[in-house]
Amino acid sequence: MDTVLSGIRPTGHLHLGNYYGAVRSFVKMQNEQNCYFFIADWHSLTTHPTPENIQNSTRTILAEYLACGLDPEKATIYIQSDVPETIELYLYLNMNTYIGELGRVTTFKEKARQQPDNVNAGLFTYPTLMAADILQHRAKWVPVGKDQEQNMEMARKCARRFNNIYKTELFPEPQNYYFGAEALKVPGLDGSGKMGKSDGNCIFLCDEEKVVRKKVMRAVTDNGPQTPNSEKPEVIANLFKMMSIVSSADTLRYFEEKWNDCSLRYGDMKKQLAEDMVKVLNPIRERILDFSSDTARLDKIAAEGAMKARESAAATLKEVRRTIGFRVY
Ligand code: TRP
Repeated sequence: MDTVLSGIRPTGHLHLGNYYGAVRSFVKMQNEQNCYFFIADWHSLTTHPTPENIQNSTRTILAEYLACGLDPEKATIYIQSDVPETIELYLYLNMNTYIGELGRVTTFKEKARQQPDNVNAGLFTYPTLMAADILQHRAKWVPVGKDQEQNMEMARKCARRFNNIYKTELFPEPQNYYFGAEALKVPGLDGSGKMGKSDGNCIFLCDEEKVVRKKVMRAVTDNGPQTPNSEKPEVIANLFKMMSIVSSADTLRYFEEKWNDCSLRYGDMKKQLAEDMVKVLNPIRERILDFSSDTARLDKIAAEGAMKARESAAATLKEVRRTIGFRVY
C-alpha cells in the first residue's frame, strides 16, 4: 500500500469539475491506498481571509468531501492547521531552500503581480509549506493538476536536498499522480474549455435543482446543425461531452442521431442534460446539507483526522530531529 496525499485550499464550493476530475477517484483510492486528504487552510492565509471566512470555507469543503464519499474510517481526512508538526518541518525545509529558486516559481510571480500590495513571505515560501505537507507523511504520490507541477518539483528538491545534506534516505521523492482515463475533464457551460469556479461556467455540487436547470438552459450554443453528419463546433461538443458524463449511453445516442440528421433542438437536449445532472447531484446535495447542518459532527471528524495525521507527522519529525542533531522527546 502506497501513501497518497492530496491538499485543497478552502476557497468556495466543489463543482462538477472537481468531482469527476478528482474527488470521485479519491473515493475509490481510499479503499486501496493509505490516503491523506487535507484542507490547506494555512495556505489560504496568503490572501488574508477573515476568521469567519476561513472557518466557513474549511467546514464547507470538509462537508462536501464527506458528502462525495470520502470516508474518515478509510482515509485520514484533516485540516492543515490542526497539525502543528507541519510548521516545524516547514522551518527546517526553509533553511535549505534558496530565495533564488523560490523567486522563480511562476505561481509566486503571478500572485505577486495580482496582489502587489501583499507580497508576503508566506506567499514566497508557499512551496516549502506544501513540501512539508507532503514530506511529513513521507507520501509517495500526490494527485495534482498542471498548475502544481512546479510546486511538486520544489517538494522533490526539498526531499532530495535534505537526504543529501544529512546522508539519509528519510524522505522518498514524491511523485505527481495522474488518474488517467478515469478522471473526466468536465467542460465549462460558457463554452470555454474547462469547468472552473466562475458562476456562469460552473455547476456547484451544492447547487439547488432549479439553479442547475437554469444554468444548463443558459449554456452557450449556436444556431443548430446545418448539414447532416457535420463536425460539432466546440460549444456543442462540450454539451455532448457533459451528456456523456452524466447521462446514459442510450440518451447520448439519441441526441447524437438528432445532431446527425439536423433535427436536434438544443432546448430539448439541455432539458434532458439538466434532468440527468440533477439525478447525479440530488443525493450529493442532500448529504452536503446533512453534514453542513451538524458542525459538531464535522468538528469531531476533523479532530479525529488530526489525531491520525499528527501521529504520522510526529513519527517523521522524530526522525528529522534526530537526524539534524536535536533532542528527541
Ligand atoms: N497548492 C495546492 C493548490 O493550490 C494546495 C496544496 C497545499 C497541496 N498543500 C498541498 C496540494 C500538498 C497537494 C499537496 O491546489
